[in-house]
Amino acid sequence: MPETQDALWYKNAVFYQVHVRAFYDSNGDGVGDFQGLAQKLDYLRDLGINAIWLMPFFPSPLRDDGYDIADYRSVHPLYGTLQDFKNFLAAAHERQLRVVMEMVLNHTSDQHAWFQESRSSRDNPRRNWYVWSETDTPYRSARIIFIDTEMSNWAWDPISKEHYWHRFFSHQPDLNYDNPAVREEMWDVMKFWLDMGVDGFRLDAVPYLIEREGTSCENLPETHIVIKELRAKLDREYPGRMLLAEANQWPADLRPYFGTGDEFHMAFHFPLMPRMFMGLKLEDRKPITEILTQTPEIPASCQWGLFLRNHDELTLEMVTDMERDYMYDSYARDKTMRLNLGIRRRLAPLLEHDRRRIELMNGMLMSLPGTPIIYYGDEIGMGDNVNLGDRNGVRTPMQWNGGWNGGFSNADPESLYSPLIQNPVYGYQAVNVLSQKRSEHSLLSWMQHMISLRRSTPLFGSGSIEFLYPKNHRVLAYVRQQGDQAILVVNNLSSSAQAVELDLRRYKGKILIEMFGGNLFPRIGDLPYLLTMGPYQFYWFKLRRI
Ligand code: GLC
Repeated sequence: MPETQDALWYKNAVFYQVHVRAFYDSNGDGVGDFQGLAQKLDYLRDLGINAIWLMPFFPSPLRDDGYDIADYRSVHPLYGTLQDFKNFLAAAHERQLRVVMEMVLNHTSDQHAWFQESRSSRDNPRRNWYVWSETDTPYRSARIIFIDTEMSNWAWDPISKEHYWHRFFSHQPDLNYDNPAVREEMWDVMKFWLDMGVDGFRLDAVPYLIEREGTSCENLPETHIVIKELRAKLDREYPGRMLLAEANQWPADLRPYFGTGDEFHMAFHFPLMPRMFMGLKLEDRKPITEILTQTPEIPASCQWGLFLRNHDELTLEMVTDMERDYMYDSYARDKTMRLNLGIRRRLAPLLEHDRRRIELMNGMLMSLPGTPIIYYGDEIGMGDNVNLGDRNGVRTPMQWNGGWNGGFSNADPESLYSPLIQNPVYGYQAVNVLSQKRSEHSLLSWMQHMISLRRSTPLFGSGSIEFLYPKNHRVLAYVRQQGDQAILVVNNLSSSAQAVELDLRRYKGKILIEMFGGNLFPRIGDLPYLLTMGPYQFYWFKLRRI
């Protein structure tokens, strides 16, 4: 584990989400691997992030990019060996980078030995490791998540002639968490990786662990009991390690995942993310202030995970039907960009390659309450490819330079796990790490600067937030505060210049220090504080009494 033994390390961290297969191929087989990822750790350290979230790297038939796990205690041979993983982990820790890995508790691949046994006969000892039924009628109130591919949450097993339950793809049978043996085994799996030294887990799909008749089979009290059990064991045996929840739910349903500080340390703020895009398009702060004022307080040891994009579609599950239509209209006019209830595009193309909007959105990501999580490639403004199936269009190889395969691999381009982005705007010749490193004004250099500013300002991670409601609703302004320190953040969500008058009387006598340049702005007096702002401009000011 990195030197800092601070148990709340995740509150002032900047995370970087990466898929080993997409980052760097060290052996020229066309697929990224752990030796490759280890070679690129200096890049991540220089970027300034201090925690890595690794997508699943276990043996898997890869029908859901590894979220279909066939063996929880090993590494997919394409990505290397267990020893390669250990070396990577040690190399990350040497650089003070924490490693949070993916853990899929809810379901396995149908290729997992447990499922093979379970389906082999109705009286197999592992039969009740999964959820079986003679009919496909139970739990009718549970929604279908992958609506573009699945018709039902039940699938027929021709071998044992019963139906099995699955919340995701039909090749991903759900484990049965009513069975104590399953709970035991999964804790044992987690211990396997914790003993190796990983710093935490992103727990995939947690709302669905338990099912009960007559309910939505999401967020059930019994599910929370399973999590509390895991957390108690974690705290007892591995203090300082962290659990991050993937619970795509409304704020009120999300809140219980923090418990009284005895469930998750962190949870993604799913409802906020689409509302940031909505506020930007509407040029109105309301979607953002509304969702954040509805967001309940969380225990002091807990933290929101904030993100703009990730490896999945930009999910529109936690919005109203009208909001979803608006988002589709604004960000996915072309229907091939839509998937399930979401939009399968990357950040830069969503924001039409507009550097001002990319900066503004990242500025909000870093200054709103929570820990920012950056999706690999978004720091250089990578593009996407909607012609690739499912969510693969946002999982293309990292673009390191303008040379062969964008510096990702020495393999024949035909044998890469995925084609690189090649168009003149987002292709690797135009968008890559090497060329952006050479320019102080590149997006990469800007991100580096932002990350360092964010990390040297812990109050962004743990301070309170108070919104100001200036008359000009195109401006989103808030004060972040902790103890006697205060920072004023002002964002112009509009594509045109704006003037805004802020009521800062509470801070009368203080002076504003602009945090990027260190310049002084006029002292706050009795009159409304007037700022003028260019299109999509934002300010971070320290409020100081000097
Ligand atoms: C989570 C993952 C997603 C995966 C699904 C099923 O939602 O983020 O990528 O497909 O779980 O495992």
